[in-house]
Amino acid sequence: MYTRYGNPTRTATEQTLSAIEGSSDALHLSSGMAAIATVCSILRPGDHVLCTRDVYGGTHKLLSKYITEYGIDVTYADACKIDAFASELRESTRLVWLESPTNPTIRVVDLRACAKFAKNVGAVVVVDNTFATPVLQNPLELGCDVVMHSATKYLNGHSDVVGGALMWNDEAFGIFREYAMAVGNTPSPFDSWLLKRGLCTLELRVLHQSASALAIAKFLDGHQAIELVHYPGLSSDAGHDLAKSQMKGFGGMLAFVVKGGEDGARTVANSLRTVKVAASLGGVESIIGYPPAMSHAMLSEQERSERGIAPGLLRLSVGIEDPQDLIEDIEQALSKVH
Ligand SMILES: Cc1ncc(COP(=O)(O)O)c(C=O)c1O
Repeated sequence: MYTRYGNPTRTATEQTLSAIEGSSDALHLSSGMAAIATVCSILRPGDHVLCTRDVYGGTHKLLSKYITEYGIDVTYADACKIDAFASELRESTRLVWLESPTNPTIRVVDLRACAKFAKNVGAVVVVDNTFATPVLQNPLELGCDVVMHSATKYLNGHSDVVGGALMWNDEAFGIFREYAMAVGNTPSPFDSWLLKRGLCTLELRVLHQSASALAIAKFLDGHQAIELVHYPGLSSDAGHDLAKSQMKGFGGMLAFVVKGGEDGARTVANSLRTVKVAASLGGVESIIGYPPAMSHAMLSEQERSERGIAPGLLRLSVGIEDPQDLIEDIEQALSKVH
């Protein structure tokens, strides 16, 4: 009838989104943030939101700067410390917001456990599944209520469209579609078409990227210029066993701390040739970011240190290039650190 309400191309994309996440319904939105704002439309004055501390900066900003203006309380706690996180639940908790693996230190949250305790107070559990992708993790199967994606990242995979997605099973969440029609945060048919094109290669890309990320993590682990590697695929990583129990692979995102702090990290990032320094993630091209000055620049030094965002931290989104080319590129960049 009218493209803000619906469009055959968007419907086709939403059917694919639903199929890959194993949901009964899905909504394609104009950005990841539009998807997050649409979920927030279920909140009312007096409600409480319990949000994981290691959350995407934009989610943090929306919740703390705008949502609280409507008489809604927001608490942040480390969802990796499950008992302490559960103790923050209130009778008024309407929404539990989770992200796993987390940004930027790739920590793993026990989604099954979170879904279980949130049910006790009737809270809606939402998982930002952007880093894991539906290829590797299906939060609805683990008992969560709503899955959210920044489709700008892996789902599209070509860094040429901004988009968001929501997937759910309970038909009560059909209100998301009504809200999106009302506020108009729906994508154009062309953006839906681009996303649908990207989805055709999602599994191929993610499996290749995960295998390459594991090879790179193993190369970095124990390298003389590296202090620490964050990647759940390493058996020494704190999230390894949990990731194995709730994911089908470990993903294409990893982070590592370069010796020499900020100078070391900047030297490595600026010496890379194949890997580009850029924002965003999940595309076919490998991208490196410096979280202290990029994605997490808005946090104070203390907040960064609480989250393990060390001055030497770099976050790598592994692309589809030959992994050996990437390792050689990283090796020559690390050789510049003294
Ligand atoms: C984990 C995560 N969630 C949500 C978003 C927001 O998505 P968008 O930029 O598509 O609005 C991002 C963007 O970087 C992200 O990394």
